[in-house]
Amino acid sequence: MGCAPFVAAQGDPAAGKLKSDTERCQECHGSDGNGDMGDGVGNLGKFPKLAGQKAEYLIKQLQDFRAGERKNDDQMPMMAKSISDADMADISAYFASLPVMRGEKSAADLEKGRKLYMKGDPERYILPCQSCHGEAGRGGADETIPSVGGQHRRYLVKQLSEFKKTVRQNSPDAMNQIAAALSDEEIEALADYLAAQE
Ligand code: HEC
Ligand code: HEC
Repeated sequence: MGCAPFVAAQGDPAAGKLKSDTERCQECHGSDGNGDMGDGVGNLGKFPKLAGQKAEYLIKQLQDFRAGERKNDDQMPMMAKSISDADMADISAYFASLPVMRGEKSAADLEKGRKLYMKGDPERYILPCQSCHGEAGRGGADETIPSVGGQHRRYLVKQLSEFKKTVRQNSPDAMNQIAAALSDEEIEALADYLAAQE
């Protein structure tokens, strides 16, 4: 058995709930893990939903923030440095145990994003997103592949753009290559489609 799965399996959601209390993670990511902070100061959709996210994926992101392999100008590097490995496992187990994130109905045209999500574009070597992220973006069998269906649109656009520009570099073999081939318009269309998965 590898190291990360072992840690994830050991995470205690009840302890994680306490450790991620309002002063720490829930302040931005929401007590229900849906991180919307409709606080009227422009933060809506900035804080990713963690509810029902894969525990191993969450642990990897926290380790990447801590090691500086995933950059963020806000508080995440500091937050990740403030917790131990055991805290990471417990807190990730807690958010993973919550009812999975849900999106909202959208008036946008979802067909373009849906098509690209389902089929990719072989001519440009864009793999179908579905082959890794699963149906409706609910995540595949691999615990390090995140749920992306129902995530906040604004957050999705930021991540895909940052993979494209290699501001986010912690997925060199998958997301950096795939996003490099996407136009800004396609990024918007994919985010529309994913954010609308209820
Ligand atoms: C001050 C607000 C704030 C606090 C407090 C905070 N976060 Fe975050 N977190 C963010 C923002 C903003 C992002 C998105 C970063 C980006 O755009 O790449 C983020 C991203 C993340 C991600 C990546 C999610 C993904 O889908 O890849 C994880 C995991 C995470 N936070 C966990 C935590 C944990 C655990 C704590 C508590 C120890 C915490 N956060 C505290 C603001 C916060
Ligand atoms: C070969 C498998 C694979 C394919 C195909 C793939 N992804 Fe990913 N994706 C990943 C992995 C693995 C990660 C996590 C990277 C990391 O560890 O930070 C990821 C991360 C993401 C994230 C960041 C999620 C978050 O919470 O921050 C988004 C958004 C995303 N992918 C969207 C897409 C879209 C849209 C497509 C199709 C254009 C796609 N992916 C195709 C494997 C894949």
